[in-house]
Amino acid sequence: MKFATPAGANPIDRMAIVGRAHPRIDGPLKTTGTAPYAYEHQHLESKLAYGCIVGAAVAKGRITAIRVHEARDAPGVLAIVTAQEAGKLGKGKRNTAKLLGGPEVDHYHQAIAVVVAETFEQARHAAGLVHVDYDRTEGRFDLATALEKAELAIDPNAAPAPKENRVGNFEEAFAAAAVKLDASYTTPDHSHAMMEPFASIAAWNGDELTVWTSNQMIDWGRTDLAITLGIPKEKVRLISPYVGGGFGGKLFLRADALLAALGARAAGRPVKIAMPRPLMANNTTHRPATRQRIRIGCDAGGTITAIGHESGSGDQPGGSPEAAVSQTRLLYAGANRLTTLRLAELDLPEGNAMRAPGEASGMMALEIAIDEMAEKLGMDPVAFRVKNDTPVDPEKPQRRFSERQLVRCLEEGAERFGWSRRNPRPGQVRDGRWLVGFGVAAAFRNHLDMPSGARVRLGRDGHITVETDMTDIGTGSYTIIAQTAAEMMGVPVDEVTVRLGDSAFPVSAGSGGQFGAANATAGVYAACVKLRDAVAQRLGFNSAEAVFADGRVTGGNRSAALREAAAAGELAGEDKIEFGDLSKTYQLSTFGSHFVELGVDSYTGIVRLRRMLAVCAAGRILNPVSARSQVIGAMTMGAGSALMEELAVDKRFGFFVNHDLAGYEVPVHADIPHQEVIFLEEADDKANPMKAKGVGELGLCGFGAAVANAVYNATGVRVRDYPITLDKYLDRLPPVD
Ligand code: MOS
Repeated sequence: MKFATPAGANPIDRMAIVGRAHPRIDGPLKTTGTAPYAYEHQHLESKLAYGCIVGAAVAKGRITAIRVHEARDAPGVLAIVTAQEAGKLGKGKRNTAKLLGGPEVDHYHQAIAVVVAETFEQARHAAGLVHVDYDRTEGRFDLATALEKAELAIDPNAAPAPKENRVGNFEEAFAAAAVKLDASYTTPDHSHAMMEPFASIAAWNGDELTVWTSNQMIDWGRTDLAITLGIPKEKVRLISPYVGGGFGGKLFLRADALLAALGARAAGRPVKIAMPRPLMANNTTHRPATRQRIRIGCDAGGTITAIGHESGSGDQPGGSPEAAVSQTRLLYAGANRLTTLRLAELDLPEGNAMRAPGEASGMMALEIAIDEMAEKLGMDPVAFRVKNDTPVDPEKPQRRFSERQLVRCLEEGAERFGWSRRNPRPGQVRDGRWLVGFGVAAAFRNHLDMPSGARVRLGRDGHITVETDMTDIGTGSYTIIAQTAAEMMGVPVDEVTVRLGDSAFPVSAGSGGQFGAANATAGVYAACVKLRDAVAQRLGFNSAEAVFADGRVTGGNRSAALREAAAAGELAGEDKIEFGDLSKTYQLSTFGSHFVELGVDSYTGIVRLRRMLAVCAAGRILNPVSARSQVIGAMTMGAGSALMEELAVDKRFGFFVNHDLAGYEVPVHADIPHQEVIFLEEADDKANPMKAKGVGELGLCGFGAAVANAVYNATGVRVRDYPITLDKYLDRLPPVD
């Protein structure tokens, strides 16, 4: 189905099942521990062996010798694979650094060998007996230094685009502005820190490879595994029915899957590998640190006349910039504009997508800058944002937003939160020993079209089965897909079985970039339209007029049970949603507002969040319970990035030091006392037939800045370097009296 013109009325509009709160259909499996995750797959024909990855102990250099005889003689060892044994390997389209290094080492903890043994303990023991000599060379590990010589870069997701995005004359307008802000902000490297580690089981059957893995994007992983191994894609099957969090780390093929495949081939047995937690931060990818400069010029009345946002980040050679200026191109009006990205080459581990790549980092800076500008103008920060709202793409004014309810998000949020109780003078409100502050930020994240396929079957018993390689990474995909098929076919949700995460099923959008829910359900919608046609034809109804409801098909003056259509044999519909130019004609984005109240201990400087509110406008909300879970989870991640998350870089040896959950802090329940989420009514007919857009990552974008602005409001101390830890402001807190 090609989606090329705005959606008209369709069966989803009934919203009898879609749009209703429905608990997760996979919930009981998860709460009873019976949902099979990658590492737990049991049903193999031959006995499993265990693989242990050996990571490089230097960040940059060359392996001069790798001595494996001691390891090979250790108890239980079945095989050892290094780059030499593996022979020629390709590199996946979406990997920057090689997944199996050697003799050249590109980054610390890059995999350089896998040891396969009868048991996990034997594999781990033998891995410790692999002796490696390195010729260590100098690496580039300091972003600030590397950026001094770095070139401008193009955001690969915005290409084709000029290296500098300019509108009007930014420099002139900024120089002439009555009120100006020129400030710099930094965000550190972040680790995905998902609960389930990277894990895979690989089994060969002749030249056919099956990998049970934990992956967000089945077709990307399958394609890149085939390319890396140099075998036809048709010979590779990936299965990933449950994923214990990914956050972008599992968008791509990683070393666990490749080395399980290589180890299994060498050992002649299926091999399972789970990455130990301390390997994850340096072996895989992370969100790159950014250094951002923002300049805003306004007239005396608070209208933005110039807005400039320049961001720099680093990556391995051949990598990509963190697109931290995306939102600045679209969020606020302003006749003169400049946005650039700069990319430095670094020898730290590979940077890549993490939880709302681009906007998450960019909004952390932009929305502090907006707060600072509002204060310079003596304006309320909500009113300043409202004043500079734009109904059109500010770079291309002929392009409108398909839907844009930013102002309503801000105003309703202010009302619900009690924003009028905020004291605009910082450092004034005390509650015992606590300094209390309010903060606000806009939320913004683009919506992306992705083609997505599905197959829907009507069984002889009237039961519906949906099959698509879409993944559920804890997001609720199973449930919203069941709701979509139930709505389309006119059956209750419990008459629908959803099968996901298998490359034997039609290729879907996959889970990433908050594009999963809207596109994957649109693919299921398309397949259901095909199945409805087949049913109507079988039962002799006019497909365009037939109504599917209550397990029946009704049209003209007749009605028949849906199951009758399959009485003589199962019927199936398969299709995929594809997109025309609507997302070029219109700008498809999602909007929101974040409000935060927190206390800062006037003695110790410790920050405690008190309450948080998000108001979101993101198209039709397919299931308010799972959407809310996405948003509160994202807000929690925003709290982490504001207050604690930071990979500490060892700039001498080039690695992330705090590479486990003891040293890499993320929020726990006690950090997150009270969250509220409101979804505004919206149905975006330019997005897809579901009239839905992404919402999961919206909840993160802007939240960190709302926290930063609340810390400022509480204390009068502006911190522009994340995370906002007390060492950065303790000596500047107001005197204790
Ligand atoms: Mo998301 S960072 O695209 O999984």
